[in-house]
Amino acid sequence: MWISRKTTEQQKAGHAVTDAVAAPTLGRYGAMAINDNATRRGVDVSGGDVELVDLVKAFGPMRAVDEINLHIPGGEFFSLLGSSGCGKTTTLRMIAGFEKPTSGQILLDGVDMTVTPPHRRHVNTVFQSYALFPHLNVFDNVAFGLRRARVDAKDVSRRVSEALDLVQLTQFAKRKPAQMSGGQQQRVALARALVLKPSVLLLDEPLGALDARLRKQLQVELKTLQQQVGITFIYVTHDQEEALTMSDRIAIMSNGHIEQIASPQDMYEAPATVFVADFLGVSNLMEATAIPSGGSGNRIKVGPFELTAGHGQSPSGNTKATIRPERVKLEPADAVGRENRIPGRVERWVYLGNAVQLIVKLATGHSIQALMHNDGAEIPYTPGTAVQVHMPSNALRILTDTGVRLASEIAATE
Ligand SMILES: Nc1ncnc2c1ncn2[C@@H]1O[C@H](COP(=O)(O)OP(=O)(O)OP(=O)(O)O)[C@@H](O)[C@H]1O
Ligand SMILES: [Mg+2]
Repeated sequence: MWISRKTTEQQKAGHAVTDAVAAPTLGRYGAMAINDNATRRGVDVSGGDVELVDLVKAFGPMRAVDEINLHIPGGEFFSLLGSSGCGKTTTLRMIAGFEKPTSGQILLDGVDMTVTPPHRRHVNTVFQSYALFPHLNVFDNVAFGLRRARVDAKDVSRRVSEALDLVQLTQFAKRKPAQMSGGQQQRVALARALVLKPSVLLLDEPLGALDARLRKQLQVELKTLQQQVGITFIYVTHDQEEALTMSDRIAIMSNGHIEQIASPQDMYEAPATVFVADFLGVSNLMEATAIPSGGSGNRIKVGPFELTAGHGQSPSGNTKATIRPERVKLEPADAVGRENRIPGRVERWVYLGNAVQLIVKLATGHSIQALMHNDGAEIPYTPGTAVQVHMPSNALRILTDTGVRLASEIAATE
């Protein structure tokens, strides 16, 4: 069943060319070489603008997508990031037109597409499974959609060559998919989608089946390619590092809704919620209580220790504080009487090559992770060593707790 669903979608995606190429509104693409996008990345970007308004998809009583609102301007590399089952694929399938929303709207370039069939949207999809035709060679796989649209043979040949060139597969044109590696097949799938010159490319975990090294290489290639062609990429992944390295902006999803939309840097350095901080790397969460002060910075108490948090929400009552491991500073135990310090004892020491990870048990009972860059100097904090843990106020952040179950809690119970 699963295979046949993908095949149908693949055929629909191929079918999209029929209308896409014929549609007068796509005339501008006729003149645009696939790698000629000077105007697409510049100020005057037109096309590829996606807006989701109060979008809901319910399967029976379960809301897989629960009132999503987002606006993706043309030419952006936008990622939907979240753990399994949070609604990423369902969102993507609604944008593609394979799934009908329960309520809400999907606008492409300002036009309501909510009930427009997939082949009439200028959108194409790259699936994790690639969904290539096994009996066709690479050239014919890429040419498939253009031929269905009865594009002139000379143009087919030119456009397929351009697309294969773009993904660096020119020399593989005559090979069958089974004679190629996973990474190469993934590039064929990309070329097949790009040759149709969609305004928006949807990618559902396209690197998911590849090993770590190839994944990293293709992440860079895919990002470069997106900048080259300048079209909107909506990229689904559950891999936080992938989203951070590739995206212009990221939406972190949980339970069908969006927790935060931000640039990679803001998402990592200024997470708005406990869930986001926890999802994106080690967050060193600590329960804290607010101290009403009126002074500068947010004064909190972690156990009996008073600290100043330089960032985040103004705390009230019980709250949570966070600090990234690379911002935690360790000092000798006798460095007493100074601000934003809690005593602790080193529990574990893990050598990571470029850094050393130290797990420190604080006097408050919290376990904190500190990351020390390996610059060749000796790190004196062996297990059992008593230390002062310095959490600089400009690295300490107060978070909003949206009450969503955290990824780390789920991992701990599974
Ligand atoms: N056709 C369907 N019928 C019923 N429930 C569905 C259907 N499709 C998806 N769901 C449910 O909707 C929720 C969201 O699914 P979705 O495939 O969007 O998740 P995802 O974020 O893409 O997860 P993954 O990372 O595992 O691919 C899940 O709980 C899933 O079981
Ligand atoms: Mg999915």
